[in-house]
Amino acid sequence: MSEFVVEPCAGIAGRVRVPGDKSISHRALMLGAIASGKTQVDGFLEGEDCLATLRAVASLGVNVQRPAPGEVVIEGVGLRGLGLPRSVLDMGNAGTAMRLFMGLLSAQGFDSELVGDESLMRRPMERVAKPLRAMGAQIETQDGRPPVRIRGGAALRGLRYEMPVASAQVKSAVLLAGLYAEGETTVVEPAVTRDHTERMLQSFGANIVARGGSATVLPAAQLDATRISVPGDFSSAAFFIVAACIGAREPFVIEGVGVNPTRTGLLEMLALMGADLRLVNHRSAGAEPVADIEVRPARLRGIRVPERLVPLAIDEFPAFFIAAACADGETRVAGAEELRVKESDRIAVMARGLDALGVRNEVLADGLRIEGGPFGGGVVDSHGDHRVAMSFAVASLRASAPIEIRDVANVGTSFPGFAATARSVGLRLTERA
Ligand code: S3P
Repeated sequence: MSEFVVEPCAGIAGRVRVPGDKSISHRALMLGAIASGKTQVDGFLEGEDCLATLRAVASLGVNVQRPAPGEVVIEGVGLRGLGLPRSVLDMGNAGTAMRLFMGLLSAQGFDSELVGDESLMRRPMERVAKPLRAMGAQIETQDGRPPVRIRGGAALRGLRYEMPVASAQVKSAVLLAGLYAEGETTVVEPAVTRDHTERMLQSFGANIVARGGSATVLPAAQLDATRISVPGDFSSAAFFIVAACIGAREPFVIEGVGVNPTRTGLLEMLALMGADLRLVNHRSAGAEPVADIEVRPARLRGIRVPERLVPLAIDEFPAFFIAAACADGETRVAGAEELRVKESDRIAVMARGLDALGVRNEVLADGLRIEGGPFGGGVVDSHGDHRVAMSFAVASLRASAPIEIRDVANVGTSFPGFAATARSVGLRLTERA
């Protein structure tokens, strides 16, 4: 199993660009596939998760070309043009792919089956299956988990769904099914979550109205192919934002990052801790706002994380916990039980990793309490979770001895080239097979 060994270093300096946004790349492939005409995508994330979606889309009979790195051309087959997949659809590690496909495939005229890797096969799928069944879909899970079997040919009805959990994946699956349903489909969220599906559906000409906290889609006769420029992934930028807060030697810049306000809760959390962050060079990539993020090193102090920020930073907690370990005083995160059902149980796995470095912490049912202060090196098991692995690499900026991070192969699901990018700014990271 591959690992990272990260030795203490003198800090980071320079500028980085991070790979394309994972959430937006998945959605571009799926909507491009069911649009009419050719959708051209640049900045596409060529990470394992999105490549799983790409292979699935191809298996459903869609011609997808990759003329150059980061460029994808999808020859849309129209809303009713997908065909019986050649085999079971393997989503690898990608929860987003599986859950969004559940929505899309529920509306098709053919049967399909979705599986994934060891981690994905343990993740809950009933949260998506339930509202889809209420729309008329025929879906089976196995004790709530994959494999997911979908019977084709169901006639879907519109639904008003009040989601019990704040989940952009559930919302997106229901909205995709809503494109094919009779009548309108409304999703109401308990807290605002990322709204890339709503923005992209608008770009493809769908009839969708979204207001913070709810979205309504009408059945579509056609989606129109478009151009999509995928911004840098804020969730990948997060590792360098935290790294720069705790260990930059000079102002540090992360260029071309998607700064959709439904994704940037981490910036607010770090600002509350005293971080020195600025968004500069604002522009837009189609429907999504983009900026460069300038970070100056700062002394951080522990905070209680406001619960309303949790869904807006849901993927950034592993990196945030490292910032908390470097802050003065105590940091407390609550209302974050969703972290337990990500690629790993991110509360338990991060707590064990912090223990290994000697960072005092207390596991809560729905979060973590961390006491910041000096810490050492040690051996950390990432449990195959890409974001856990990258977070502990960043911790090396403050560790007094090397950190060995086990089971890091999945870093390539979201951040291909992470090790080289980290080294280019000064982290002393080596990879071992
Ligand atoms: C995602 C939604 C979030 C997030 C995941 C990507 C998306 O999951 O954690 O990495 O692209 O919609 P939930 O919907 O389960 O919160």
